[in-house]
Amino acid sequence: MAARVNWKEWLRRWDEQQESFHLERERRFSAMLDAVEATQPRRLRALDLGSGPGSLSVRLLRRFPRATVTAVDYDPVALRVGEGALGSYRGRLSWVDARMGAPGWTKALPSGRFHAALSTTALHWLAPAPLRALYADLRRLLLPGGIFLNGDFLPWGPSYRRFSRMAKGVREARLHGASAARQWAAWSRWWKDAEKVPALAPAFQLREERHSQHPRTGDLPLDLHLRALRRAGFRDAQVVWQDFENRVLCAVR
Ligand SMILES: C[S@@+](CC[C@H](N)C(=O)[O-])C[C@H]1O[C@@H](n2cnc3c(N)ncnc32)[C@H](O)[C@@H]1O
Repeated sequence: MAARVNWKEWLRRWDEQQESFHLERERRFSAMLDAVEATQPRRLRALDLGSGPGSLSVRLLRRFPRATVTAVDYDPVALRVGEGALGSYRGRLSWVDARMGAPGWTKALPSGRFHAALSTTALHWLAPAPLRALYADLRRLLLPGGIFLNGDFLPWGPSYRRFSRMAKGVREARLHGASAARQWAAWSRWWKDAEKVPALAPAFQLREERHSQHPRTGDLPLDLHLRALRRAGFRDAQVVWQDFENRVLCAVR
């Protein structure tokens, strides 16, 4: 008989490895949920874009006991771990396998509009064209007064080289000289260990096929996101929380 997988432990370990290099991750989650609380009804419909195994989704569901969340990701491993750890969260959480920004991806979503679309550490994967397409989709998917919140590494662009250097220096000092390689070791250990779980084998195979087709883009600067949001028709788009280049970008529909 196959050994039972402790999916909750895999989700806990996911959080642990993400926290090891995304400093202030928990504070950033809280700031995003504060913004939701200040602007949206308690019984809200929310999207978690690039949800991974559901770290943001579960925090939102705990904070707003009458909310429902649709978690979207195209990594079969992340989706499998999330579904194993959180399931449907008593009917309040659904999982959607879709590649954001690709033509027609919104057809995979449940019908109706949303009060909030949130994302953490995910949209840096998108190249400018799919990012613009995504923002145009979000304008349609959100209700009037709805909110978009993106918590991510949003660097200063080439006109702000001094700020970039300063942010880099601060980050290195805070990590107490730990090398980038050591930071990434926690991440790669999670993936290496997960690969040994037999229940994840089909998901890993599919992941391999998908990822070889979709290389990651570089981190796009904050200004590009702001311009793309305004071009998509978001009236207000501003940074509402930041710790150097780790920021929460907010746009109101
Ligand atoms: C670093 S993980 C972050 C997961 C989670 N939001 C968190 O904060 O822990 C980034 C996630 O974004 C997903 N992702 C990146 N680009 C995507 C796309 N175009 N469509 C769907 N998911 C995407 C990846 O598959 C991955 O699970």
